[in-house]
Amino acid sequence: MGSTKAVENGDGFVSISGNWEKRRIETTNRLGSIDRRTFMKLSGAGAAALIFGTGPFTERVVAAPNFSGYPFKLGVASGDPLPDGVVLWTRLAPEPLAEDGRGGMPQESVAVRWQVAADENFGRIVRWGTVNSQPELAHSVHVEVGGLRPHRPYFYRFKAGSEISPVGKTKTTPALGAAIPRMRFSFASCQMYEHGYYTAYWHMAQEDLDLVVHLGDYIYEYGPNEYVALTGNVRTHNGPKIFSLPEYRNRHALYRRDRDLRAAHAAFPWVVTWDDHEVQNNYTDELPEGELTTEEFLQRRAAAYQAYYEHMPLRRSSVPKGPDMLLYRRLTYGNLAEFNVLDTRQYRDDQAAGGGLDPPNPEQQGPSRTITGEAQERWLLDGLAGSGARWNVLAQQVFFAQRDFGVGDDQLLSMDAWDGYLGSRNRILGFIAERNISNPVVITGDVHNNWAADLKIDFNDPGSPKVGTEFVGTSISSGGDGADTDLRAQSIVAENPHIKFFNGQRGYVRCILSPESFRADYRVLPYVSQRGAPIHTRASFVAADGQPGAQQVSGEPIFGTARASRAIESDPERLEAQRRADRGSRSSR
Ligand SMILES: [Fe+2]
Repeated sequence: MGSTKAVENGDGFVSISGNWEKRRIETTNRLGSIDRRTFMKLSGAGAAALIFGTGPFTERVVAAPNFSGYPFKLGVASGDPLPDGVVLWTRLAPEPLAEDGRGGMPQESVAVRWQVAADENFGRIVRWGTVNSQPELAHSVHVEVGGLRPHRPYFYRFKAGSEISPVGKTKTTPALGAAIPRMRFSFASCQMYEHGYYTAYWHMAQEDLDLVVHLGDYIYEYGPNEYVALTGNVRTHNGPKIFSLPEYRNRHALYRRDRDLRAAHAAFPWVVTWDDHEVQNNYTDELPEGELTTEEFLQRRAAAYQAYYEHMPLRRSSVPKGPDMLLYRRLTYGNLAEFNVLDTRQYRDDQAAGGGLDPPNPEQQGPSRTITGEAQERWLLDGLAGSGARWNVLAQQVFFAQRDFGVGDDQLLSMDAWDGYLGSRNRILGFIAERNISNPVVITGDVHNNWAADLKIDFNDPGSPKVGTEFVGTSISSGGDGADTDLRAQSIVAENPHIKFFNGQRGYVRCILSPESFRADYRVLPYVSQRGAPIHTRASFVAADGQPGAQQVSGEPIFGTARASRAIESDPERLEAQRRADRGSRSSR
Protein backbone atom coordinates (compact mmCIF):
# COMPACT_ATOMS: atom_id res chain seq x y z
CA MET A 1 0.00 0.00 0.00
CA GLY A 2 1.01 3.59 -0.51
CA SER A 3 2.89 6.11 1.55
CA THR A 4 1.89 7.18 5.04
CA LYS A 5 0.39 10.59 5.57
CA ALA A 6 -0.73 11.82 8.96
CA VAL A 7 -3.47 14.40 9.28
CA GLU A 8 -4.42 15.74 12.66
CA ASN A 9 -8.04 16.75 13.02
CA GLY A 10 -9.38 19.06 15.69
CA ASP A 11 -9.92 16.25 18.17
CA GLY A 12 -6.30 15.25 18.38
CA PHE A 13 -6.89 12.07 16.43
CA VAL A 14 -4.54 11.17 13.66
CA SER A 15 -6.00 10.02 10.36
CA ILE A 16 -3.43 8.41 8.20
CA SER A 17 -3.70 7.15 4.69
CA GLY A 18 -1.42 4.38 3.57
CA ASN A 19 -0.10 1.24 5.21
CA TRP A 20 -2.70 0.17 7.80
CA GLU A 21 -0.37 -1.73 10.09
CA LYS A 22 1.63 1.43 10.50
CA ARG A 23 -1.51 3.45 11.00
CA ARG A 24 -2.70 1.24 13.77
CA ILE A 25 0.47 1.63 15.74
CA GLU A 26 0.55 5.37 15.38
CA THR A 27 -3.08 5.82 16.23
CA THR A 28 -2.69 3.68 19.31
CA ASN A 29 0.44 5.47 20.36
CA ARG A 30 -1.13 8.86 19.76
CA LEU A 31 -3.83 8.03 22.25
CA GLY A 32 -1.36 7.18 24.90
CA SER A 33 -2.13 3.51 25.33
CA ILE A 34 1.36 2.37 24.43
CA ASP A 35 4.38 4.06 25.92
CA ARG A 36 7.08 5.50 23.72
CA ARG A 37 9.56 2.67 24.23
CA THR A 38 7.01 0.06 23.25
CA PHE A 39 6.09 2.15 20.24
CA MET A 40 9.68 2.35 19.07
CA LYS A 41 10.06 -1.38 19.51
CA LEU A 42 6.89 -2.12 17.60
CA SER A 43 7.62 0.28 14.77
CA GLY A 44 10.30 -1.94 13.31
CA ALA A 45 9.88 -4.73 10.80
CA GLY A 46 7.44 -7.41 11.84
CA ALA A 47 5.53 -5.08 14.10
CA ALA A 48 2.26 -5.97 12.45
CA ALA A 49 2.69 -9.67 13.06
CA LEU A 50 3.81 -9.01 16.60
CA ILE A 51 0.83 -6.87 17.38
CA PHE A 52 -1.89 -8.59 15.49
CA GLY A 53 -0.77 -12.17 15.52
CA THR A 54 -3.10 -14.36 13.55
CA GLY A 55 -6.22 -12.58 14.74
CA PRO A 56 -9.02 -11.58 12.42
CA PHE A 57 -7.57 -8.17 11.59
CA THR A 58 -5.15 -9.75 9.18
CA GLU A 59 -8.00 -10.52 6.77
CA ARG A 60 -8.79 -8.03 4.09
CA VAL A 61 -12.05 -6.19 4.31
CA VAL A 62 -14.19 -6.54 1.25
CA ALA A 63 -15.96 -3.37 0.19
CA ALA A 64 -14.27 -1.38 2.93
CA PRO A 65 -16.35 1.69 3.76
CA ASN A 66 -14.98 4.99 2.65
CA PHE A 67 -15.26 7.19 5.73
CA SER A 68 -15.36 10.96 5.37
CA GLY A 69 -13.20 11.23 8.48
CA TYR A 70 -11.85 9.16 11.36
CA PRO A 71 -14.87 7.05 12.41
CA PHE A 72 -13.89 6.53 16.07
CA LYS A 73 -14.09 10.15 17.18
CA LEU A 74 -16.48 9.18 19.99
CA GLY A 75 -13.90 6.83 21.46
CA VAL A 76 -14.48 3.42 23.01
CA ALA A 77 -16.09 2.20 26.21
CA SER A 78 -16.76 -0.97 28.14
CA GLY A 79 -19.31 -1.79 30.80
CA ASP A 80 -21.48 -4.14 32.84
CA PRO A 81 -18.66 -6.60 33.58
CA LEU A 82 -19.30 -10.21 34.60
CA PRO A 83 -16.83 -12.83 35.84
CA ASP A 84 -16.44 -14.10 32.26
CA GLY A 85 -17.15 -11.10 30.08
CA VAL A 86 -17.91 -7.48 29.49
CA VAL A 87 -19.71 -5.24 26.99
CA LEU A 88 -17.50 -3.44 24.48
CA TRP A 89 -18.85 -0.26 22.92
CA THR A 90 -18.08 2.10 20.12
CA ARG A 91 -20.01 4.11 17.56
CA LEU A 92 -18.90 4.87 14.03
CA ALA A 93 -19.31 8.61 13.51
CA PRO A 94 -16.85 10.32 11.18
CA GLU A 95 -19.00 13.46 11.46
CA PRO A 96 -20.38 13.15 15.01
CA LEU A 97 -22.54 16.28 14.85
CA ALA A 98 -24.01 15.85 11.35
CA GLU A 99 -27.46 17.42 11.48
CA ASP A 100 -29.38 14.31 10.45
CA GLY A 101 -28.03 12.47 13.52
CA ARG A 102 -26.36 9.79 11.38
CA GLY A 103 -22.85 10.77 12.31
CA GLY A 104 -21.76 11.03 8.69
CA MET A 105 -22.56 7.35 8.07
CA PRO A 106 -24.54 5.83 5.20
CA GLN A 107 -27.94 4.17 5.58
CA GLU A 108 -26.38 0.72 5.51
CA SER A 109 -24.72 -1.67 7.92
CA VAL A 110 -20.98 -1.54 8.29
CA ALA A 111 -18.91 -4.42 9.61
CA VAL A 112 -16.85 -3.66 12.70
CA ARG A 113 -14.18 -6.06 13.86
CA TRP A 114 -13.11 -6.24 17.49
CA GLN A 115 -10.29 -7.78 19.47
CA VAL A 116 -9.75 -8.48 23.15
CA ALA A 117 -6.19 -9.06 24.31
CA ALA A 118 -4.58 -9.98 27.60
CA ASP A 119 -1.83 -7.41 27.04
CA GLU A 120 -1.87 -3.83 25.89
CA ASN A 121 0.34 -4.58 22.88
CA PHE A 122 -2.21 -7.09 21.59
CA GLY A 123 0.40 -9.84 21.56
CA ARG A 124 -2.02 -12.28 23.17
CA ILE A 125 -5.40 -11.83 21.52
CA VAL A 126 -7.89 -13.98 23.39
CA ARG A 127 -11.22 -13.14 21.74
CA TRP A 128 -12.19 -11.51 18.47
CA GLY A 129 -15.09 -11.23 16.12
CA THR A 130 -17.09 -9.09 13.73
CA VAL A 131 -20.38 -7.30 14.34
CA ASN A 132 -22.57 -5.29 12.03
CA SER A 133 -23.13 -1.72 13.09
CA GLN A 134 -26.55 -0.70 11.91
CA PRO A 135 -27.96 2.67 10.90
CA GLU A 136 -31.05 1.97 13.06
CA LEU A 137 -28.80 2.20 16.12
CA ALA A 138 -26.62 5.02 14.79
CA HIS A 139 -23.87 2.53 13.89
CA SER A 140 -23.23 1.87 17.56
CA VAL A 141 -21.68 -1.43 18.54
CA HIS A 142 -22.41 -3.38 21.73
CA VAL A 143 -20.30 -6.53 21.83
CA GLU A 144 -21.08 -8.90 24.71
CA VAL A 145 -17.78 -10.70 25.02
CA GLY A 146 -17.75 -14.00 26.90
CA GLY A 147 -15.15 -16.63 27.69
CA LEU A 148 -12.85 -14.31 29.63
CA ARG A 149 -11.22 -15.11 32.95
CA PRO A 150 -12.51 -13.59 36.19
CA HIS A 151 -10.96 -10.53 37.84
CA ARG A 152 -8.53 -9.80 35.01
CA PRO A 153 -7.68 -6.69 33.06
CA TYR A 154 -8.15 -6.86 29.30
CA PHE A 155 -7.49 -4.54 26.38
CA TYR A 156 -9.77 -4.07 23.41
CA ARG A 157 -10.08 -2.19 20.16
CA PHE A 158 -12.17 -2.04 17.00
CA LYS A 159 -11.50 -1.83 13.30
CA ALA A 160 -13.84 -0.60 10.58
CA GLY A 161 -12.63 -0.51 7.01
CA SER A 162 -8.98 0.34 7.42
CA GLU A 163 -9.51 2.50 10.50
CA ILE A 164 -8.49 1.36 13.99
CA SER A 165 -10.04 2.62 17.20
CA PRO A 166 -8.19 3.82 20.27
CA VAL A 167 -7.40 1.04 22.74
CA GLY A 168 -9.60 0.63 25.78
CA LYS A 169 -8.81 -1.15 29.03
CA THR A 170 -11.41 -3.07 30.97
CA LYS A 171 -11.70 -5.64 33.74
CA THR A 172 -13.89 -8.61 34.50
CA THR A 173 -15.45 -9.09 37.93
CA PRO A 174 -14.22 -11.76 40.35
CA ALA A 175 -15.75 -15.24 40.27
CA LEU A 176 -19.08 -15.41 42.08
CA GLY A 177 -18.48 -15.74 45.80
CA ALA A 178 -14.69 -15.37 45.48
CA ALA A 179 -13.01 -13.86 48.55
CA ILE A 180 -11.79 -10.43 47.47
CA PRO A 181 -9.54 -8.40 49.78
CA ARG A 182 -10.15 -5.07 48.08
CA MET A 183 -12.11 -3.28 45.41
CA ARG A 184 -11.86 0.29 44.14
CA PHE A 185 -14.46 2.19 42.19
CA SER A 186 -15.47 5.79 41.60
CA PHE A 187 -18.91 7.20 41.15
CA ALA A 188 -19.86 10.34 39.26
CA SER A 189 -22.92 12.24 38.07
CA CYS A 190 -24.19 15.46 36.51
CA GLN A 191 -21.96 16.70 33.72
CA MET A 192 -23.66 19.79 32.32
CA TYR A 193 -21.34 20.51 29.37
CA GLU A 194 -21.82 24.28 29.41
CA HIS A 195 -21.06 24.65 33.13
CA GLY A 196 -17.46 23.50 33.12
CA TYR A 197 -14.67 21.29 31.86
CA TYR A 198 -14.45 17.58 32.63
CA THR A 199 -11.09 17.82 34.38
CA ALA A 200 -12.43 15.48 37.05
CA TYR A 201 -12.62 12.72 34.44
CA TRP A 202 -9.04 13.30 33.41
CA HIS A 203 -7.99 12.78 37.02
CA MET A 204 -10.30 9.80 37.36
CA ALA A 205 -8.65 8.17 34.33
CA GLN A 206 -5.31 8.29 36.19
CA GLU A 207 -6.71 6.36 39.18
CA ASP A 208 -6.39 2.64 39.74
CA LEU A 209 -10.02 1.52 39.61
CA ASP A 210 -11.96 -1.66 39.01
CA LEU A 211 -15.09 0.15 37.92
CA VAL A 212 -16.84 3.48 37.40
CA VAL A 213 -20.49 3.97 38.30
CA HIS A 214 -22.40 6.83 36.66
CA LEU A 215 -25.53 7.93 38.51
CA GLY A 216 -27.21 10.09 35.91
CA ASP A 217 -27.46 13.46 34.20
CA TYR A 218 -24.94 12.23 31.65
CA ILE A 219 -26.29 14.84 29.24
CA TYR A 220 -28.52 17.88 29.71
CA GLU A 221 -31.37 18.55 27.33
CA TYR A 222 -31.29 22.36 27.30
CA GLY A 223 -30.55 24.75 24.46
CA PRO A 224 -27.54 27.07 24.53
CA ASN A 225 -27.22 29.10 27.74
CA GLU A 226 -30.70 28.27 28.99
CA TYR A 227 -29.29 26.76 32.19
CA VAL A 228 -26.55 29.09 33.38
CA ALA A 229 -24.04 28.24 36.12
CA LEU A 230 -23.53 30.73 38.96
CA THR A 231 -19.96 31.19 37.70
CA GLY A 232 -21.14 31.54 34.08
CA ASN A 233 -21.13 29.06 31.22
CA VAL A 234 -17.82 28.16 29.63
CA ARG A 235 -18.99 26.05 26.65
CA THR A 236 -22.11 26.01 24.50
CA HIS A 237 -24.61 23.32 23.60
CA ASN A 238 -24.99 22.42 19.93
CA GLY A 239 -28.46 23.60 19.05
CA PRO A 240 -31.75 24.24 20.82
CA LYS A 241 -33.43 22.10 23.44
CA ILE A 242 -33.54 18.49 22.24
CA PHE A 243 -36.67 16.50 21.40
CA SER A 244 -35.97 14.22 18.44
CA LEU A 245 -33.74 11.18 18.03
CA PRO A 246 -31.17 13.05 15.86
CA GLU A 247 -31.03 15.80 18.48
CA TYR A 248 -30.51 13.39 21.39
CA ARG A 249 -27.86 11.52 19.39
CA ASN A 250 -26.00 14.71 18.65
CA ARG A 251 -26.13 15.84 22.26
CA HIS A 252 -24.57 12.55 23.37
CA ALA A 253 -22.00 12.93 20.58
CA LEU A 254 -21.14 16.46 21.69
CA TYR A 255 -20.52 15.29 25.25
CA ARG A 256 -18.55 12.23 24.15
CA ARG A 257 -16.28 14.34 21.97
CA ASP A 258 -14.81 15.65 25.23
CA ARG A 259 -11.35 14.14 25.60
CA ASP A 260 -11.42 13.77 29.36
CA LEU A 261 -14.74 11.94 29.31
CA ARG A 262 -13.47 9.63 26.58
CA ALA A 263 -10.33 8.94 28.59
CA ALA A 264 -12.34 7.83 31.63
CA HIS A 265 -14.50 5.56 29.46
CA ALA A 266 -11.44 4.01 27.83
CA ALA A 267 -9.73 3.37 31.17
CA PHE A 268 -12.36 1.35 33.09
CA PRO A 269 -15.61 -0.56 32.66
CA TRP A 270 -18.60 1.64 33.50
CA VAL A 271 -21.94 0.79 35.03
CA VAL A 272 -24.41 3.50 34.11
CA THR A 273 -27.87 4.57 35.12
CA TRP A 274 -29.77 7.70 34.22
CA ASP A 275 -31.59 10.44 36.08
CA ASP A 276 -33.94 13.00 34.56
CA HIS A 277 -31.85 15.17 32.22
CA GLU A 278 -31.14 12.29 29.86
CA VAL A 279 -34.76 12.97 28.87
CA GLN A 280 -36.20 16.06 30.54
CA ASN A 281 -35.87 17.92 33.83
CA ASN A 282 -37.84 16.27 36.67
CA TYR A 283 -39.93 13.98 34.49
CA THR A 284 -41.71 11.12 36.21
CA ASP A 285 -42.73 7.93 34.43
CA GLU A 286 -44.81 9.15 31.49
CA LEU A 287 -45.51 12.61 32.82
CA PRO A 288 -43.54 15.47 31.29
CA GLU A 289 -42.77 18.55 33.31
CA GLY A 290 -43.59 20.91 30.46
CA GLU A 291 -46.47 21.47 28.12
CA LEU A 292 -46.10 18.37 25.95
CA THR A 293 -49.01 15.94 25.85
CA THR A 294 -48.36 12.48 27.29
CA GLU A 295 -48.21 11.07 23.76
CA GLU A 296 -45.68 13.68 22.64
CA PHE A 297 -43.67 13.11 25.79
CA LEU A 298 -43.57 9.35 25.23
CA GLN A 299 -42.18 9.95 21.74
CA ARG A 300 -39.57 12.18 23.26
CA ARG A 301 -38.78 9.61 25.95
CA ALA A 302 -38.41 6.90 23.30
CA ALA A 303 -35.93 9.05 21.35
CA ALA A 304 -34.00 9.90 24.50
CA TYR A 305 -33.86 6.28 25.71
CA GLN A 306 -32.75 5.02 22.32
CA ALA A 307 -29.94 7.59 22.06
CA TYR A 308 -28.90 6.70 25.62
CA TYR A 309 -28.74 3.00 24.75
CA GLU A 310 -26.84 3.77 21.56
CA HIS A 311 -24.13 5.64 23.46
CA MET A 312 -23.67 3.46 26.55
CA PRO A 313 -21.93 0.10 27.03
CA LEU A 314 -25.16 -1.74 27.87
CA ARG A 315 -26.27 -5.32 27.30
CA ARG A 316 -29.00 -6.48 24.91
CA SER A 317 -31.35 -6.71 27.89
CA SER A 318 -31.42 -2.90 27.83
CA VAL A 319 -32.38 -2.48 24.18
CA PRO A 320 -35.29 -0.03 24.33
CA LYS A 321 -38.77 -1.08 23.27
CA GLY A 322 -40.45 2.14 22.24
CA PRO A 323 -40.61 4.39 25.30
CA ASP A 324 -39.56 1.57 27.67
CA MET A 325 -36.07 0.46 28.56
CA LEU A 326 -34.91 -1.93 31.26
CA LEU A 327 -32.03 -0.31 33.12
CA TYR A 328 -32.19 -1.64 36.68
CA ARG A 329 -29.83 -4.52 37.15
CA ARG A 330 -27.35 -6.12 39.55
CA LEU A 331 -23.60 -6.52 39.53
CA THR A 332 -21.73 -8.75 41.98
CA TYR A 333 -18.09 -8.30 42.95
CA GLY A 334 -16.99 -11.59 44.48
CA ASN A 335 -18.11 -11.90 48.08
CA LEU A 336 -17.24 -8.27 48.74
CA ALA A 337 -19.91 -6.15 47.10
CA GLU A 338 -23.17 -6.33 45.26
CA PHE A 339 -24.43 -3.30 43.32
CA ASN A 340 -28.15 -2.83 42.86
CA VAL A 341 -28.35 -0.29 40.06
CA LEU A 342 -31.70 1.48 40.28
CA ASP A 343 -33.88 3.43 37.88
CA THR A 344 -35.92 5.88 39.97
CA ARG A 345 -37.31 7.82 36.98
CA GLN A 346 -39.11 5.46 34.65
CA TYR A 347 -41.64 3.99 37.07
CA ARG A 348 -42.14 6.59 39.79
CA ASP A 349 -45.34 8.26 40.94
CA ASP A 350 -45.66 11.93 40.08
CA GLN A 351 -43.96 14.31 42.52
CA ALA A 352 -46.17 15.34 45.42
CA ALA A 353 -47.27 18.97 45.78
CA GLY A 354 -45.83 20.01 42.42
CA GLY A 355 -42.32 18.71 42.96
CA GLY A 356 -40.43 21.53 44.68
CA LEU A 357 -39.35 21.99 48.29
CA ASP A 358 -42.46 21.53 50.37
CA PRO A 359 -43.61 20.85 53.91
CA PRO A 360 -44.69 17.29 54.68
CA ASN A 361 -48.05 16.63 53.02
CA PRO A 362 -50.57 13.80 52.78
CA GLU A 363 -49.62 12.89 49.20
CA GLN A 364 -45.90 12.58 50.03
CA GLN A 365 -46.77 10.49 53.11
CA GLY A 366 -49.08 8.08 51.29
CA PRO A 367 -47.95 4.58 52.28
CA SER A 368 -48.38 3.17 48.77
CA ARG A 369 -46.24 5.81 47.07
CA THR A 370 -43.40 4.51 44.96
CA ILE A 371 -40.25 5.92 43.37
CA THR A 372 -39.13 2.56 41.93
CA GLY A 373 -42.40 1.01 40.81
CA GLU A 374 -43.62 -2.25 42.28
CA ALA A 375 -41.67 -4.69 40.11
CA GLN A 376 -38.32 -2.99 40.68
CA GLU A 377 -38.95 -2.78 44.44
CA ARG A 378 -39.69 -6.50 44.60
CA TRP A 379 -36.57 -7.21 42.54
CA LEU A 380 -34.50 -5.03 44.89
CA LEU A 381 -35.79 -6.61 48.10
CA ASP A 382 -35.40 -10.14 46.69
CA GLY A 383 -31.85 -9.28 45.67
CA LEU A 384 -30.96 -7.88 49.08
CA ALA A 385 -32.43 -10.93 50.81
CA GLY A 386 -30.45 -13.29 48.59
CA SER A 387 -27.16 -11.41 48.62
CA GLY A 388 -24.05 -13.06 50.01
CA ALA A 389 -21.99 -9.88 49.73
CA ARG A 390 -20.42 -7.96 52.59
CA TRP A 391 -21.42 -4.57 51.15
CA ASN A 392 -24.81 -4.10 49.56
CA VAL A 393 -24.77 -0.99 47.43
CA LEU A 394 -27.81 0.85 46.11
CA ALA A 395 -26.48 2.83 43.13
CA GLN A 396 -29.18 5.36 42.43
CA GLN A 397 -30.08 8.92 41.54
CA VAL A 398 -31.67 11.12 44.18
CA PHE A 399 -31.03 11.98 47.87
CA PHE A 400 -32.07 8.98 49.98
CA ALA A 401 -31.72 10.26 53.56
CA GLN A 402 -34.13 12.85 54.91
CA ARG A 403 -32.87 16.36 54.20
CA ASP A 404 -34.79 19.08 55.96
CA PHE A 405 -34.22 22.53 54.45
CA GLY A 406 -36.52 24.21 56.99
CA VAL A 407 -35.38 25.97 60.12
CA GLY A 408 -36.59 24.77 63.52
CA ASP A 409 -39.83 22.84 63.57
CA ASP A 410 -40.91 23.79 60.05
CA GLN A 411 -39.81 21.02 57.71
CA LEU A 412 -39.13 21.63 54.02
CA LEU A 413 -38.33 18.54 51.95
CA SER A 414 -37.48 17.86 48.30
CA MET A 415 -40.49 16.24 46.66
CA ASP A 416 -38.27 14.97 43.80
CA ALA A 417 -36.03 12.94 46.17
CA TRP A 418 -36.85 9.94 48.40
CA ASP A 419 -38.23 12.48 50.90
CA GLY A 420 -41.14 12.79 48.48
CA TYR A 421 -41.69 9.02 48.42
CA LEU A 422 -41.83 8.02 52.08
CA GLY A 423 -43.68 4.78 51.31
CA SER A 424 -40.79 3.53 49.17
CA ARG A 425 -38.09 4.58 51.63
CA ASN A 426 -39.87 3.18 54.67
CA ARG A 427 -40.45 -0.18 52.99
CA ILE A 428 -36.81 -0.50 51.95
CA LEU A 429 -35.30 0.67 55.26
CA GLY A 430 -37.77 -1.46 57.18
CA PHE A 431 -36.81 -4.52 55.13
CA ILE A 432 -33.09 -3.83 55.63
CA ALA A 433 -33.55 -3.61 59.40
CA GLU A 434 -35.89 -6.58 59.69
CA ARG A 435 -33.76 -8.91 57.56
CA ASN A 436 -30.50 -7.59 58.95
CA ILE A 437 -29.12 -6.98 55.45
CA SER A 438 -25.34 -6.83 55.48
CA ASN A 439 -23.93 -3.28 55.35
CA PRO A 440 -26.27 -1.32 53.09
CA VAL A 441 -24.62 1.67 51.41
CA VAL A 442 -26.54 4.07 49.19
CA ILE A 443 -24.58 6.04 46.59
CA THR A 444 -26.30 9.07 45.09
CA GLY A 445 -25.94 11.84 42.51
CA ASP A 446 -28.37 14.57 41.40
CA VAL A 447 -27.75 17.40 43.87
CA HIS A 448 -24.42 18.77 42.56
CA ASN A 449 -22.86 18.72 46.02
CA ASN A 450 -21.09 16.24 48.27
CA TRP A 451 -22.85 14.95 51.36
CA ALA A 452 -22.49 12.02 53.78
CA ALA A 453 -25.32 10.75 55.94
CA ASP A 454 -26.46 8.04 58.31
CA LEU A 455 -29.60 6.18 57.29
CA LYS A 456 -32.15 5.74 60.05
CA ILE A 457 -35.53 4.13 60.38
CA ASP A 458 -36.90 7.41 61.77
CA PHE A 459 -34.83 10.46 60.86
CA ASN A 460 -36.87 12.64 63.24
CA ASP A 461 -36.01 10.51 66.26
CA PRO A 462 -32.46 11.02 67.57
CA GLY A 463 -32.73 7.63 69.33
CA SER A 464 -33.66 5.73 66.18
CA PRO A 465 -30.91 3.24 65.24
CA LYS A 466 -28.67 3.68 62.20
CA VAL A 467 -29.37 1.03 59.59
CA GLY A 468 -27.16 2.13 56.71
CA THR A 469 -24.92 4.77 55.17
CA GLU A 470 -25.31 7.19 52.29
CA PHE A 471 -22.54 8.84 50.27
CA VAL A 472 -23.80 11.57 47.95
CA GLY A 473 -21.38 12.56 45.22
CA THR A 474 -21.01 16.01 43.74
CA SER A 475 -21.27 16.83 40.04
CA ILE A 476 -18.53 16.53 37.44
CA SER A 477 -19.33 20.04 36.16
CA SER A 478 -22.97 21.00 36.82
CA GLY A 479 -23.30 24.11 38.93
CA GLY A 480 -19.98 25.65 37.89
CA ASP A 481 -16.95 26.14 40.14
CA GLY A 482 -18.69 25.89 43.50
CA ALA A 483 -17.03 26.47 46.85
CA ASP A 484 -16.26 24.44 49.93
CA THR A 485 -19.33 25.42 51.90
CA ASP A 486 -21.57 28.35 52.79
CA LEU A 487 -23.89 29.43 55.57
CA ARG A 488 -26.95 27.86 54.00
CA ALA A 489 -25.26 24.45 53.73
CA GLN A 490 -24.03 24.75 57.31
CA SER A 491 -27.52 25.41 58.54
CA ILE A 492 -28.81 22.28 56.75
CA VAL A 493 -26.07 20.18 58.32
CA ALA A 494 -26.97 21.65 61.72
CA GLU A 495 -30.67 21.03 61.14
CA ASN A 496 -30.13 17.36 60.20
CA PRO A 497 -27.99 15.59 62.84
CA HIS A 498 -27.77 12.43 60.70
CA ILE A 499 -26.02 14.45 57.94
CA LYS A 500 -22.28 14.46 58.57
CA PHE A 501 -20.70 16.32 55.69
CA PHE A 502 -21.20 18.90 52.99
CA ASN A 503 -18.91 20.15 50.26
CA GLY A 504 -19.93 22.25 47.25
CA GLN A 505 -17.05 21.70 44.81
CA ARG A 506 -16.89 19.61 41.63
CA GLY A 507 -15.39 16.12 41.37
CA TYR A 508 -16.27 12.52 42.11
CA VAL A 509 -16.20 10.02 44.95
CA ARG A 510 -13.59 7.27 45.02
CA CYS A 511 -14.58 4.25 47.09
CA ILE A 512 -12.22 1.66 48.50
CA LEU A 513 -13.86 -1.47 49.85
CA SER A 514 -12.38 -4.18 52.04
CA PRO A 515 -14.09 -6.74 54.26
CA GLU A 516 -13.52 -4.32 57.16
CA SER A 517 -14.64 -1.00 55.70
CA PHE A 518 -16.19 0.98 52.87
CA ARG A 519 -14.18 4.17 52.49
CA ALA A 520 -15.39 7.15 50.46
CA ASP A 521 -12.79 9.72 49.38
CA TYR A 522 -14.39 12.96 48.26
CA ARG A 523 -12.17 14.02 45.37
CA VAL A 524 -12.67 17.70 44.52
CA LEU A 525 -11.36 20.38 42.17
CA PRO A 526 -10.97 24.09 43.01
CA TYR A 527 -12.55 25.10 39.67
CA VAL A 528 -13.98 23.76 36.41
CA SER A 529 -14.35 27.08 34.57
CA GLN A 530 -10.81 26.64 33.27
CA ARG A 531 -9.00 23.51 32.22
CA GLY A 532 -6.23 21.87 34.18
CA ALA A 533 -7.38 22.16 37.79
CA PRO A 534 -5.57 19.95 40.33
CA ILE A 535 -7.50 17.47 42.43
CA HIS A 536 -7.37 16.61 46.10
CA THR A 537 -9.24 14.55 48.63
CA ARG A 538 -11.38 16.99 50.59
CA ALA A 539 -12.45 14.41 53.17
CA SER A 540 -12.63 10.67 53.69
CA PHE A 541 -15.45 8.85 55.43
CA VAL A 542 -15.82 5.18 56.28
CA ALA A 543 -18.64 2.87 57.04
CA ALA A 544 -17.21 0.06 59.15
CA ASP A 545 -18.37 -3.54 58.76
CA GLY A 546 -21.34 -4.10 61.05
CA GLN A 547 -21.44 -0.45 62.14
CA PRO A 548 -23.76 1.52 59.88
CA GLY A 549 -23.18 5.25 59.55
CA ALA A 550 -20.62 7.62 58.04
CA GLN A 551 -17.56 8.29 60.19
CA GLN A 552 -15.08 10.92 59.10
CA VAL A 553 -11.50 9.63 59.10
CA SER A 554 -9.71 12.57 57.50
CA GLY A 555 -10.24 15.98 56.04
CA GLU A 556 -10.45 19.42 57.49
CA PRO A 557 -13.40 20.00 59.78
CA ILE A 558 -16.24 21.40 57.80
CA PHE A 559 -16.77 24.55 59.85
CA GLY A 560 -13.03 25.33 59.99
CA THR A 561 -12.82 25.94 56.25
CA ALA A 562 -16.20 27.55 55.79
CA ARG A 563 -16.22 30.66 53.70
CA ALA A 564 -19.38 32.46 52.80
CA SER A 565 -19.66 32.03 49.07
CA ARG A 566 -22.46 32.64 46.64
CA ALA A 567 -20.86 30.27 44.16
CA ILE A 568 -22.52 27.15 45.55
CA GLU A 569 -25.57 26.10 43.60
CA SER A 570 -28.03 25.22 46.36
CA ASP A 571 -31.04 23.02 45.72
CA PRO A 572 -33.52 25.93 45.56
CA GLU A 573 -31.21 27.71 43.12
CA ARG A 574 -30.74 24.57 41.04
CA LEU A 575 -34.51 24.02 40.84
CA GLU A 576 -35.16 27.65 39.95
CA ALA A 577 -32.39 27.82 37.31
CA GLN A 578 -33.73 24.67 35.66
CA ARG A 579 -37.29 25.94 35.81
CA ARG A 580 -36.08 29.11 34.06
CA ALA A 581 -34.31 26.97 31.49
CA ASP A 582 -37.50 24.98 30.88
CA ARG A 583 -39.44 28.18 30.31
CA GLY A 584 -36.79 29.72 28.07
CA SER A 585 -36.64 26.76 25.77
CA ARG A 586 -40.39 26.52 25.31
CA SER A 587 -40.57 29.98 23.79
CA SER A 588 -37.63 29.24 21.52
CA ARG A 589 -39.25 26.11 20.12
FE1 LIG B 1 -27.86 17.23 37.57
